[in-house]
Amino acid sequence: MDLAKFSQINPPQRLLMGPGPINADPRVLRAMSSQLVGQYDPAMTQYMNEVMALYRGVFRTENQWTMLIDGTSRAGIEAILLSAIRPGDKVLVPVFGRFGHLLCEIARRCRAEVHTIEVPWGEVFSPDQIEDAIKKVQPRLLLTVQGDTSTTMLQPLEELGGICKKYGVLFYTDATASFAGNALETDAWGLDAVSAGMQKCLGGSSGTSPVTLSPQMEAVIRKRKCIEEGIRTAAHQDGDDEMIYSNYFDLGMIMDYWGPERLNHHTEATSALFGARECARLILEEGLDNGIARHKLHGDALLKGIQGMGLETFGNLKYKMNNVLGVVIPPGVNGDRVRKLMLEDFGIEIGTSFGPLHGKVWRIGTMGYNARKDCVMQTLSALESVLNWLGFKTTQGAAMQSAWDHYAHGSR
Ligand SMILES: Cc1ncc(COP(=O)(O)O)c(C=O)c1O
Repeated sequence: MDLAKFSQINPPQRLLMGPGPINADPRVLRAMSSQLVGQYDPAMTQYMNEVMALYRGVFRTENQWTMLIDGTSRAGIEAILLSAIRPGDKVLVPVFGRFGHLLCEIARRCRAEVHTIEVPWGEVFSPDQIEDAIKKVQPRLLLTVQGDTSTTMLQPLEELGGICKKYGVLFYTDATASFAGNALETDAWGLDAVSAGMQKCLGGSSGTSPVTLSPQMEAVIRKRKCIEEGIRTAAHQDGDDEMIYSNYFDLGMIMDYWGPERLNHHTEATSALFGARECARLILEEGLDNGIARHKLHGDALLKGIQGMGLETFGNLKYKMNNVLGVVIPPGVNGDRVRKLMLEDFGIEIGTSFGPLHGKVWRIGTMGYNARKDCVMQTLSALESVLNWLGFKTTQGAAMQSAWDHYAHGSR
């Protein structure tokens, strides 16, 4: 093998303004490059406890079981769904984009009886629509997506916890894309389980997924307790409900790894944990509400700039996530060519979309470390230049003027 062909990693400079991943905060990168320690070193278990405490702050919860699931965001989703859903359980999924379909797909693999309601992409559900479906289906769990990145819409969750409580339904949300950039009140909104991702508003690198579980959710999982042979002792009693059909994603064993028993389950992804810890520190130092306000400020500045450029946006703006905007690709413009030129000539990445929106909508993110004025202005200026170069004429400078006007009202 000619090793000269495999140079040291030296990625090109990019400004990541898509729907995630985004550029990680340099403080997170520094934390991730720290030397490893053993998984039961008191320093490591102390870091694990600190991560639990810090993420309770970000999730706005008192839940003891607030921890990380190693793997990308969908590892957090799968761990919760596999641990909560028994084969044959009924679940209800309100689908308003690709990630609602992902919840259905994972629930099906848990052998759930999956029921869906749907609205057109670009819209969200009213609490009444969800309550009516709960009355009809009588599910054991309601599985929601808070921010569906594929459509850029944010499903309001505030009223759903009360509805779930009324009908004895467990309430889960996938907050991968919305977490820390939009309000999420785990306890006040009555959520039983939430999972998130690092590579969006948290400003980190994908590879571990913060989750939180309510005491009710813990009780459901504990009933399915089953400790693997080789580590179980006489003191370990199996639960009286059906076992969880995954070892890696068995939240019972994962809780015992993060808890005082320190059960030897997996080997915690140390560098990912260091990064996740720094992300939470950054967010709580800024203040969660201040960070959400920052996402709104820069998200709105991008929106104004895009509108100033004369482009149409996608979806019902009343329900747009603070941190990502859908932009309708103008007729006659080759969306992929624009993205290629943005990347090659400006080093800026913006996203395309999935399924019915592929080739019709770009998605531009302003999140985490990149929810900043300079990132917004650079992206608008590059997009305007590329569009004009390709023959789609805009009023030159109008986008930047609109964004500047917006900043003049609340500069950061
Ligand atoms: C809402 C939502 N859920 C789940 C995922 C899957 O995340 P990951 O790719 O980190 O597994 C994404 C990724 O973009 C997402 O936006």
